Amino acid sequence: MRIDVVSIFPEVFRPVLASSMLGIAQERGLLDVRLHDLRDWAEGVHRQTDDYAYGGGPGMVMKPEPFFRALRDLKADAPGECTVVLMTPQGRRFDQRAAEDLASREHLVILCGRYEGFDERIRSLADLQLSIGDYVLTGGELPAMVVIDAVGRLIPGVLGHEGSAAEESFSWGLLEYPQYTRPAVWEGMSVPDVLLSGDHARIAAWRRREALARTAALRPDLLDDADLTPEEREFASGTAQEKEAGRLDEGES
Ligand SMILES: C[S@@+](CC[C@H](N)C(=O)[O-])C[C@H]1O[C@@H](n2cnc3c(N)ncnc32)[C@H](O)[C@@H]1O
Repeated sequence: MRIDVVSIFPEVFRPVLASSMLGIAQERGLLDVRLHDLRDWAEGVHRQTDDYAYGGGPGMVMKPEPFFRALRDLKADAPGECTVVLMTPQGRRFDQRAAEDLASREHLVILCGRYEGFDERIRSLADLQLSIGDYVLTGGELPAMVVIDAVGRLIPGVLGHEGSAAEESFSWGLLEYPQYTRPAVWEGMSVPDVLLSGDHARIAAWRRREALARTAALRPDLLDDADLTPEEREFASGTAQEKEAGRLDEGES
């Protein structure tokens, strides 16, 4: 997959892209992230990318021309399917489903804003406008890194174990079940016996039940869209009611 990022601060991406799985994915040729300085498409000695807002008001607005020129050149450089993503707090909320959808694309171009945001005409370039949450950051670089990380790890071959992404939080529509590693007892806290049993069917059943209980206790909103049997739904609603009644603590499954 190729991802082009257009920003006035492309250098902030480098340490994140060079580390861990994203670095390995690029070394293996599974992910090709190309960073671009928007100023390369700006005009004048100052290579200006922002200007005052028509109608007045505080702060500067990002100019349309550099983004339009950047898109024209990037699309010419990689003809074919291309999804243009514009990072904005006004966009659709980014979630695991959106990450899965983007991971199936061949080429993404991510546009990062700054200052008071984009000239409205820049939105016409976007296939998708994404927000990482209902808060305002100073720029689109951190949101773009969130998207690249979430998408990059879903590309086949990037994670060491292909099942890892399939079983974790949100991919089932539920939060992930509790995980343990060695030692089996630490400071009086024991790993549940079932996980030491070697009985894969029992372990799978325990994990499903724990995932349900945890989701009901911590994120009951996710249950509405989760694919559950009638028994599971009844169990989850009982757990949610216990939580409501204060009988389960935060973090307890
Ligand atoms: C200070 S923000 C501009 C906010 C804009 N004035 C508004 O109210 O929608 C500057 C840039 O940061 C990025 N940004 C800020 N918060 C974001 C969020 N929650 N999700 C995605 N991008 C965000 C966008 O690229 C935005 O253009």
